[in-house]
Amino acid sequence: MGNLILSIESSCDDSSVALTDIDSLELIEHLKVSQEAEHSSYGGVVPELASRLHAVALPKLLEKIKPYFADIKAVAVTTHPGLSVSLHEGVIMAKGAAAFLNVPIIGVNHLKGHIYSLFIGKEQTLPLLVLLVSGGHTQIIEVESYDKMKLLATTIDDSVGEAYDKVAKMLSLGYPGGPIIEKLALEGDENSFNLPVPMQNSPLVAFSLSGLKNAVRLQIEALGGAKNMSRQDICNLSASFQKAVLKHLLQKSKKVFKENIIPNFAIVGGVSANSYIKEGFKKLCKEFNKNMLEVDLKYTSDNAAMIGRWAIEAYKNGDFSEDSLKVGATKRLQPGSLI
Ligand code: KG4
Ligand code: ZN
Repeated sequence: MGNLILSIESSCDDSSVALTDIDSLELIEHLKVSQEAEHSSYGGVVPELASRLHAVALPKLLEKIKPYFADIKAVAVTTHPGLSVSLHEGVIMAKGAAAFLNVPIIGVNHLKGHIYSLFIGKEQTLPLLVLLVSGGHTQIIEVESYDKMKLLATTIDDSVGEAYDKVAKMLSLGYPGGPIIEKLALEGDENSFNLPVPMQNSPLVAFSLSGLKNAVRLQIEALGGAKNMSRQDICNLSASFQKAVLKHLLQKSKKVFKENIIPNFAIVGGVSANSYIKEGFKKLCKEFNKNMLEVDLKYTSDNAAMIGRWAIEAYKNGDFSEDSLKVGATKRLQPGSLI
């Protein structure tokens, strides 16, 4: 016998289901079907295809955890932000499961889920400053508690993950671009291309990636297009791109660090799997005497375990707002607002 939370994540191109013990925080089951291979040939996620694949995968995953049904005390599901058609598949599944099991349902903000990926199987370390870098977002967030999170900085155009994916697409490298670029960059010289560090001279604490992405496009064109580039050119350009991305993230984060005394810091989201970026931030944390928490590599990309971990806090606080079940795409929030 246990007290379990069933969690479902389907905001983008991963169908995932998890069971977490409410009392011990132990992750009991964690299942995930990735759609990366299906979307790869398109160089990005195709929403209709994603939603269809979720509709096929989720019932199969739920079937596998049937033996635990009697122990489930609540069903948690990602409701926003994400691709509406994909989110809907998860919410339909969650509503069905909650009605069948006669338990409450908890709507979860995907971004808060990413932050709680830090605490899978463990207690929370709060307060916390977070740099969230994913396919859809680039934000600095101040986390006071599971439901009090303030946006400090955000991107004015593309997200970091998106920039990696678009650069990879320009170089015909496949999707998702982040891990491919990181690997190629290891064989490249980061000083070979002179790419602009975004917003270097701006006092704004905000991110911008589209100018850098365009600078990469111009370099590719100057070399006669991706097809005419040598492997070494591609590695060099990947390394130079990463160098500019990291410099930009560090420069803007440093501005926040100078004014914010919160002792704990973490990078979360898909891009936080990147060792080069992580190393840069480890040095910055050392300089500012901040304790850097890390997400286990298993949980940096989208997964249901992080959704379940956040939902445990909501469950313990009796937080079952009907409102939180409204499915929604990405909202543009202003710095200073609660996420
Ligand atoms: O958090 P995530 O799995 O999904 C969203 O919520 O968007 O993030 C996916 C993003 C993709 O853009 C992918 O290219 C990027 O994370 N990513 C990386 C790495 N691994 C995944 N970016 C840079 N370096 C990596 N190693
Ligand atoms: Zn995500």
